[in-house]
Amino acid sequence: MNSIRACVFDAYGTLLDVHSAVMGNADKVGDSAEALSALWRQRQLEYSWTRGVMGKYADFWQLTIEALDFALQTYGLEDRPGLKESLLNAYFELKAYPDAAKSLEMLKAEGYITAILSNGNNDMLQGAISAGNLGGLLDDCISADDIKTYKPDPSVYQLACDRLDVRPHEVCFVSSNAWDVAGAAAFGFNAVRINRQGAPLEYHCAPSKHQLKALSELPLLLSQFRT
Ligand code: LAC
Repeated sequence: MNSIRACVFDAYGTLLDVHSAVMGNADKVGDSAEALSALWRQRQLEYSWTRGVMGKYADFWQLTIEALDFALQTYGLEDRPGLKESLLNAYFELKAYPDAAKSLEMLKAEGYITAILSNGNNDMLQGAISAGNLGGLLDDCISADDIKTYKPDPSVYQLACDRLDVRPHEVCFVSSNAWDVAGAAAFGFNAVRINRQGAPLEYHCAPSKHQLKALSELPLLLSQFRT
């Protein structure tokens, strides 16, 4: 961790609160809001993993729509007027976590390259970055859609090295998603997990270097390794 030049962030779930789309429309959704949001996220990710392996790539926005369709039908909400459109509009401009901007600002002030590396496609990422006013805090936004495959395929992490002109050991990769942290660690990044819920450790085959409770803890962590 003492040769870090770039801090590279997962977007959905790490910088951006994936559940804010449903929670911001909870009045329209009703009692199944939490369960709907969890199922929506779970299927969105599952479709990326399965389609990636079976060679049926589609961009993340399409998977987000397909996953929402499944979740709405599961909870009998598919015919609720305007609900699907409201949820997709909210997802396109997902709320950033409250400590995301400050943490990025502090890291940039310390001279780190800052970037997003996400399975999201460029349009949806730009929508969320501008909604969260994160644009000026990021040196780059790298979408897996540029190479038509998804994390945790190693080629996506390699894409970040190529675009930022850094080597794997010079990258601190930050994600809240255990599978993404493991993929990054297996690739050779210094992987840091934002574990907000204090979930048990998993993916012991490719462990993270550090587990933090919040993005706000990252600048202090990295300051301990600066020579
Ligand atoms: C991302 C999702 C998969 O890559 O977390 O941003």
